[in-house]
Amino acid sequence: MSGALRASSARQPEFDVYRIREDFPVLRRQVHGKPLAYLDNAATTQKPQAVIDALSRYYREFNSNVHRGVHLLSEEATQAFEAARETVRRFLNARAAQEIVFTRNATESINLVAYTFGRARVGAGDEVLITGMEHHSNIVPWQILCEERGARLRVVPITDEGELRLDEYERLLGPRTKLAAVTHMSNALGTVNPVRAMIATAHARGVPVLVDGSQAAYHMRVDVQELGCEFYVMTGHKLYGPTGIGVLYGQEAVLERMPPFLGGGDMIAEVTFEKTTYNELPHKFEAGTPHIAGAVGLGVALDYITSVGFDAIAGHEQALLAYATAALARVPGVRIIGTAREKSSILSFVMDGAHPHDIGTIVDREGVAIRTGHHCAQPVMRRYGIPATARASLAMYNTREEIDALASALEKVREVFC
Ligand code: ALA
Repeated sequence: MSGALRASSARQPEFDVYRIREDFPVLRRQVHGKPLAYLDNAATTQKPQAVIDALSRYYREFNSNVHRGVHLLSEEATQAFEAARETVRRFLNARAAQEIVFTRNATESINLVAYTFGRARVGAGDEVLITGMEHHSNIVPWQILCEERGARLRVVPITDEGELRLDEYERLLGPRTKLAAVTHMSNALGTVNPVRAMIATAHARGVPVLVDGSQAAYHMRVDVQELGCEFYVMTGHKLYGPTGIGVLYGQEAVLERMPPFLGGGDMIAEVTFEKTTYNELPHKFEAGTPHIAGAVGLGVALDYITSVGFDAIAGHEQALLAYATAALARVPGVRIIGTAREKSSILSFVMDGAHPHDIGTIVDREGVAIRTGHHCAQPVMRRYGIPATARASLAMYNTREEIDALASALEKVREVFC
């Protein structure tokens, strides 16, 4: 970051964003000759040096398979893998490490629940309740399940501001509802849903709840015991960790009763051609060689987040969101999609006369990386009668100067299109 950019920023004493930025090597990059302003964090966050080092160290020093060897390297790899599981447990305040299942990503975690818990629980005429602001990964697995079972997918509508209609949520939680699957935070609108109250409402009617924490978990502290949900899913690459590693948290008693998902090595206790018995939790759900380096890297990423602290992260990001919202509102022709009262770190917008893809391409030439499109949430786009939005999404290392860079780049878009 150049000195000139740096000088104009109001620094917060308890949170030095410029110090944080030094931990993320990619942020030093130039893009098209301009300093990179990475505002596509809802798609994936950048990785701190500690995570990059952990991945490299794993392969350099103790790469080996887990739960399989008596040799030292295998023991070290197993120890590191299980230590990462314990870190995830602490991060979510789960009761036991057995409740933490490593998957490839949040999508796989949701599919795991749909194919096991869902298949066992949902029958003909039953209902699965989701919301109108779900990512495709929290829609399609339930649709597949409902089609297979002759069940019905019900959807909680959203308001013009992008908030859930909680009256409708309560109404739709009926005697046939077998599961509610709700996002903690919308990737397209930024809305943070009142999941704790929603879980309590569902439980009062005997309905278990899966919470999709893909967007929420890197912005706010999550305590699964306090939430009380049966399932909570996260993806590593949005938590400043590697791609290809995800988490399914499930309450132990619920996971115990669930049949396995994928069959193969490590998930078994004993195999004969007549019958297989399954391994104990969480291994019953971890067939095949896992992404060991990914889990180790995720553990380091979560430790990094914890060392910065969610109070500091949320304070910085919320201040930046307010700054960015005001900055975009000053650009003529910009309309923000998603103005919920409880909102975090995401600014979806459209601009008169300019297609979101053109916005994305022009701002990229100015060094500003944003996402454009439907954000894997086509029903949200349909709800607002638009094909796509441009989306700036924030993380702990973003600065006011980067928001200023976006606002200036949008002026360039206006010069071309408006
Ligand atoms: N679901 C991610 C996003 O919102 C990839 O961009």
